[in-house]
Amino acid sequence: MDDIVISVKGLTKSYGGFEAVRGVDFEVRRGHVLALLGPNGAGKTTTVEILEGYRQRDGGEVSVLGRDPSHRDKELRSRVGIVLQECAVDQYLTVTEAITQRAGLYPDPRPVDEVVSMVGLGAKGRCRIKTLSGGQQRRLDLGLALVGNPELIFLDEPTTGFDPSARRESWELVRGLCAEGRTVVLTTHYMDEAQALADQVTVIAAGKVVASGTPDTLGGRDQGETTVRFVLPAGVELCELPLPPDLRPEVRCGVVEVRLPDATALLHDLTGWALARGQVLDGLKVRRPSLEDVYLDLTGDDG
Ligand SMILES: Nc1ncnc2c1ncn2[C@@H]1O[C@H](COP(=O)(O)OP(=O)(O)O)[C@@H](O)[C@H]1O
Ligand SMILES: [Mg+2]
Repeated sequence: MDDIVISVKGLTKSYGGFEAVRGVDFEVRRGHVLALLGPNGAGKTTTVEILEGYRQRDGGEVSVLGRDPSHRDKELRSRVGIVLQECAVDQYLTVTEAITQRAGLYPDPRPVDEVVSMVGLGAKGRCRIKTLSGGQQRRLDLGLALVGNPELIFLDEPTTGFDPSARRESWELVRGLCAEGRTVVLTTHYMDEAQALADQVTVIAAGKVVASGTPDTLGGRDQGETTVRFVLPAGVELCELPLPPDLRPEVRCGVVEVRLPDATALLHDLTGWALARGQVLDGLKVRRPSLEDVYLDLTGDDG
């Protein structure tokens, strides 16, 4: 299908005797963001580098923009932009020089000044790369990936070392790229980044896909239990609360916690009860499992 920009089936890759990728499958649609999540050593970078044509696979089928990336053909490379996990550029070039040099490799580059400001380095154009902070170097990496006007962009941990506002800016940048119909494959350890950007999340652990879905439904997250917490009002006994009899509330340090599939009716009863008695439910919180909760469950990576 024309809409499928990347298709991976049964992908395998070993280093020596070690199987780093053990039969990975996924697809990515045009204009979508795929977030690949997984603990260190899961095989994310290996997978991404195979899709980029930087590594040869051992087995499986891979199609990127309708081609096999292992052939490393020039046309495919000109349509793809890459932020490597570790980037090596000549540290003595200035930001503008580095981007200009990279632009020269592509048939239809974006204007260099536009790219420099897109990645928030407008004030740093004439600075040598070696003088940039870690986060600024990462922005430059993003600029280098985007200057070729790519249809498909691979971002391997692109916001590591960014301050919070730089991360938000780069999220806006990625959203803008997708709005233009470009496709993005992202690896990240930041669950909020995956939540904010991804249309599709694929979790890899020990070389295998352990779950796939949207950020909101991954691992049955949308069907997970809701937790309701609040401080037990002074002078109120637990048995006075309008809780359904089958619920078993826990009380710790004066905080009541109940878990149930859907909290709608409970919240109605509780807040109605509190209002009628002129009570305040201090610290009232309603929480569904976060993407991080689900991720930690799936990967057993909870320390
Ligand atoms: N060039 C290599 N030679 C040998 N082992 C490697 C090489 N690259 C990666 N590995 C191993 O393969 C596994 C997957 O690595 P990687 O794909 O970098 O994982 P991730 O990006 O998910 O952290 C790790 O155990 C790593 O040590
Ligand atoms: Mg990696």
